[in-house]
Parts: sequence; C-alpha cells; structure tokens
Amino acid sequence: MVFFTGYLRNLAVIAVVSSLQALADTDFQWNKLEASDKLVWTPCYSGLQCSLLQVPLDYSSATAGTASIAIARYPANCTKSEYRGPILLNDGGPGGSGVDYVVEVGASIATIIGEQFDIVGFDPRGVSYSTPTISFFRTAAERALWMPATSDIVFPALNQTADAVAQQWARAQILGQLAVNRNDGNYIQHITTDNTARDMLRITEAFGFEKVQYWGVSYGSVLGSTFAAMFPDKVGRVVVDGVMPMDTWYSANLTREAADTDKALQTFFDGCAAAGPEACAFSAPSSIEVATKLDALFAAIEVQPVPVTTPVSYGVVDYTFLRNSVFHALYSPYDSFVALAQGLADLAMGNATTLYTAEEVPPFECDYSSTTPFHENGYEALVAISCGDMAVESDTVSQLQAYYASIQAISSIADMYGNWRVVCSGWKLHREDRFKGPFRAPNTSFPLLVIGNTADPVTPIAGAKSTVDAFPGSALLTIDAPGHTSLGAPSTCFYRYLRQYFQNGTLPPQNTVCQPDGVLFPPPANATTEGVASRGLNAWGAELIEGRRTIGKAMRRAMARTLSLAP
Ligand SMILES: *[C@@H]1O[C@H](CO)[C@@H](O)[C@H](O)[C@H]1NC(C)=O
Ligand SMILES: *[C@@H]1O[C@H](CO)[C@@H](O)[C@H](O)[C@H]1NC(C)=O
Ligand SMILES: *[C@@H]1O[C@H](CO)[C@@H](O)[C@H](O)[C@H]1NC(C)=O
Ligand SMILES: *[C@@H]1O[C@H](CO)[C@@H](O)[C@H](O)[C@H]1NC(C)=O
Ligand SMILES: *[C@@H]1O[C@H](CO)[C@@H](O)[C@H](O)[C@H]1NC(C)=O
Ligand SMILES: *[C@@H]1O[C@H](CO)[C@@H](O)[C@H](O)[C@H]1NC(C)=O
Ligand SMILES: *[C@@H]1O[C@H](CO)[C@@H](O)[C@H](O)[C@H]1NC(C)=O
Repeated sequence: MVFFTGYLRNLAVIAVVSSLQALADTDFQWNKLEASDKLVWTPCYSGLQCSLLQVPLDYSSATAGTASIAIARYPANCTKSEYRGPILLNDGGPGGSGVDYVVEVGASIATIIGEQFDIVGFDPRGVSYSTPTISFFRTAAERALWMPATSDIVFPALNQTADAVAQQWARAQILGQLAVNRNDGNYIQHITTDNTARDMLRITEAFGFEKVQYWGVSYGSVLGSTFAAMFPDKVGRVVVDGVMPMDTWYSANLTREAADTDKALQTFFDGCAAAGPEACAFSAPSSIEVATKLDALFAAIEVQPVPVTTPVSYGVVDYTFLRNSVFHALYSPYDSFVALAQGLADLAMGNATTLYTAEEVPPFECDYSSTTPFHENGYEALVAISCGDMAVESDTVSQLQAYYASIQAISSIADMYGNWRVVCSGWKLHREDRFKGPFRAPNTSFPLLVIGNTADPVTPIAGAKSTVDAFPGSALLTIDAPGHTSLGAPSTCFYRYLRQYFQNGTLPPQNTVCQPDGVLFPPPANATTEGVASRGLNAWGAELIEGRRTIGKAMRRAMARTLSLAP
C-alpha cells in the first residue's frame, strides 16, 4: 500500500539515481559540502545550486546536537529588485527526496510560477542526503532482504492471505524494535513533521526572508498545514494540494481517505467504455462490463498467478501485484490509464509481461566495493516520520482487523489502504513534546490556497474542504478530475491561479472549479497532444503543457518504480 507521491519516488531511488547521475555536475558530491547555519551554494545537477543547512536536532535542547538539511534550488532568473525569495516544495511521502523532486521538475515549476522565485527542494530531516540519515538497516543488502524488490511482503493486499494483517503486525513489531535498538545518537524521535516545519522557517530565514512560501502536495499538505498551525504569523504563501487533514493524519485514522477511491476507479470504467477499443484496449460496451472484466481478472489471478521472465528480471504477477497496478494507476490517470488498459487486455489473453515490465527494475545487486553512504531510505523515513507523528502502538491485531474492516465499508480497494496504521503498530519512539494540535489557526498572516481533485484516490475532496474550515480566509480551488493532487490532474486553469497566488497574492474566486486539459483515453492519433491543442492556448499555456508533461511523467515513473520495490 502506498499513499503519497514522494514515498513512491523515494522507494525508487535505485532507478532515480541512474537518471540523476546523468544530470549531475560530474564532481558534485553531497558529502563534500560542509553544513553551515548560512546558505553556501555550490553548483550541482545541471543548472541547480546545492547547500547543506545546519539546524538544531532538537529545537528545545541546544545540547542535543544538530541536523543538516540538504537543499537544492532551481535559481531565480531575474533582477535583484524583481527577486521574490524562495518557494519551498514538498512532494509527499513522507520520505520523498525534495532534492530529487526539484532536479526533476524545478524548471517546469519555474515556468508555471515565474522566474522571480528560487524553486527550492529540500530533503526533510532524516531523508536521503539530510543527516542524520535514518535507517534501521545496516546495509543495503539487509534492507533488500527485508523488502525484496519483487515481493509482496512489504505491502501485501490485506486479503491476499487470511493472516496478512497479523503478519504485517508482526513485521511492524520488528521494525519498531529495530528502530529502538539502532537509534545511535538518539535522533530518530526528532524526525517528525513538526520539526520539519520548524526547519522550513529556518531555511526561509537563511534566505533572508521572514515568511514562508510553500507548495506541498499529498503528505506535503500535512506539512504545510502543520506549519500554518504552528506559525500562523509566518505564512507568506502556503499552497496545500491533495489534502489530508491534520486531525486525520495525527490520529492515524485514515479510513476517510478512501472516500473517493472508487470514484477514481469508476473514471477508468467510464472512460474506457466511452473511448472504445481503438483508444482503450480493455474496453467493453458499457462501464459495468469493463468493471466485470476487471473483477474476472482479479478472480483468475488469485487462482493462477502468472510467472514472467524478461531479459532484465523475473517475477510473479499475482493478486497483490494486480491490485497495486490498478491502484497506482489511479494516482496519475492521464498518464497511466491507456497503459493500464493495455496491460489488463494482455493479461486477459494470458500475457502478464506488459503489466510486469511497466513496473520492472533490475534485481538488487550488492556493490561490495561501494563506500557510498546509505541514502536510499524512503521506506525508513516514511515509517519514522508517520509513526513518530502518530501514536498507535497499543493496537492489537484484532483492533487492526476492525480498522481494516472500517475501510472496507467505504472502498473496494481497502486491502491496499489498511496497511498504513498497521505499519505504525510497533513504533515506540515518540517525543513527548511532539505536535498534538491545535489542528487549526483562526488567523494566518496570509490565506492558504487549498487544492482538491474531485476524484482523488487517496486524498478526497472532503479533506480539502475541512482544511479550508480549519484556516478561515483560505480559498478552495477544485480540479474536476481524477488523480492524486494537481500533479496527477493536468490543468492549465489551475496553473494560472497558482501563478497569480504566488505572484500577486490573488486568491481564486470562491467555488472556483478548474477543468483538466487532458482526456483519459485520447484517440491514438491524439495521444501526444492530450487533447489540449484545441483549447487555443497562448505560448505560455503551451509551455505549461510541456511542464505538465514533465511533471506527469515524473509522477508516472515514480509510480512505476514503486511497485517492484514495495508492492
Ligand atoms: C534567464 O532569462 C534570460 C532573459 O529572459 C534568458 O535569456 C535566459 O535563457 C534565462 N536563463 C534560464 C536558465 O532560463
Ligand atoms: C476511524 O474513523 C472511522 C470514521 O471515519 C470510524 O468508523 C472508525 O471507528 C475509526 N477507527 C479508529 C481505529 O479510530
Ligand atoms: C506479451 O506482451 C509483450 C509486450 O508487453 C510482447 O512483447 C510479447 O511478445 C507478448 N507475448 C506473447 C506470447 O504474446
Ligand atoms: C479483497 O477485498 C476487496 C474489497 O476490499 C474485494 O473486492 C475482493 O474481492 C477481496 N479479495 C479477496 C481475494 O478476498
Ligand atoms: C489577525 O492578524 C492580524 C495581523 O496578522 C491582526 O491585525 C488581526 O487583529 C488578527 N485578527 C484576529 C481576529 O485575531
Ligand atoms: C499581477 O498583477 C499585475 C498588476 O495588477 C499584473 O500586471 C500581472 O499580470 C499580475 N500577474 C498575474 C500572474 O496575475
Ligand atoms: C484530435 O485531433 C484532431 C485534429 O488535430 C482534433 O480535431 C480533435 O479535436 C482532437 N481530439 C481530441 C479528443 O482532442
């Protein structure tokens, strides 16, 4: 089960690294930078600049030591008087590398928002190149044995086997104990969302600005809202996008987050049936018949998993694999549905290779000579941050089963969801003074901009609405589309409002609804235009669409990599 975009991205670090290396300035290395309480910039990744900022490990104890935050900026390109400071990004997870994110999409985001800003990605404390870098595993090999790339063991469908919940509970107890045993330097309990919010203020101040400008998607919405609740008078511009409400997050009850999953899945059935066999390989005369075909595939694969061998790797496409393929496609339907339909159609003909290769990564190999520090830690960071924020260690197996059942009452994809709380049931490292609310702020120094899609598989529109209520004065912008966050739902209409918000502080009119630009199943001849050409966009609009493609591709790649690393 996977909730958030950055988590997907980071689990996929093995694959990411190779593509980033091509981009990186050849002699740049994070471990050659010296951490400082000022921003000292070094050229890195083509055209970006990197810095390591020192912050307190524990904001309430000066003697607890320091953490350093890896920061990369896609620099502003304007005159000094036009310069408007940093916009911090978070692409979710938690545990996603903000450095990887800005390397991948910084230029596109600058196109959308404007070149007067530094577009800033940072690895939140504990993550990737920030130090101390969290891991419960001593080596990449130990980690790969715990979470093999092609296994269902890490996040199985909870009804794949009768004891799946109990097994996951047992594994969670081990993870929790490993974290306690391997907490050298006593740092893990400080890797929490509230401390990252404090770090964001430090980063902004190091840029010479007082108020934070921020755009966070998915879990990044929790981080942004937490910041606004903790520092209401330091809100410069804060955009939360694909919103999980704070009370949901901190209470570890994500049941309601499944509210719109089936709605997103329905857009696949409807779109596929309407598009016909030319554009949707899995089509049938009606939505119901498409859904029935998918059910039949699930039933068949449960009885008969399909082995796949490719020139690169090998594995089994089984029930969990298929559940994940479908679930993940709901995150970025405009980039994924066509391929999903092809994969399902091929599977129905007995060929699982298409679905399998869409998610394939090379098998794990030990690099015995490597002295590279351990940075591929998306999973550990995900667990530490989530579980450090939420306290549910008293949950028993039967309580977790009841929790799973409460999601089943809401969504047909509950088996992909229930894992979340289970993973935290063994976690013991909680700071007594961690953030526990209030989960609202009556008066922020600037209104938040809150974004929700009408059919987001993991952060339903209801979360955006309740967050608007928690921050009076903030504005809701709805994107009338399936997909997870604005990254999963292409809309130049949204980009225009986003740009106005950052540039001029203009909020969209109340009840603004943006339409997506793409179509879910473009006719084959239009596949590369995504149906937008007819909208008569100006040059900037065209550039945006290009940027949108980059972002969409990044999202889809992140999805694809995930499956084989953590099904
Ligand atoms: C910076 O702006 C100048 C003038 O608009 C433009 O020619 C140049 O290509 C821009 N540089 C980058 C890296 O975008
Ligand atoms: C979670 O919330 C749902 C309603 O949103 C409720 O039915 C359920 O009992 C809650 N579960 C736990 C474990 O608190
Ligand atoms: C299965 O599908 C793949 C494409 O994903 C194709 O290359 C291969 O030839 C197909 N195998 C068979 C037996 O049709
Ligand atoms: C698993 O649960 C889902 C509902 O969450 C259901 O649709 C599916 O049939 C179940 N699968 C099995 C193998 O029990
Ligand atoms: C809200 O904050 C502003 C300044 O940030 C202040 O002038 C105003 O009095 C505050 N309003 C309330 C209701 O607290
Ligand atoms: C911001 O406001 C200025 C002045 O009103 C206007 O010229 C500019 O187009 C606006 N920018 C955006 C992005 O709306
Ligand atoms: C496909 O392209 C044609 C010609 O370029 C255009 O007329 C038509 O509107 C496009 N269809 C969609 C769904 O975008």
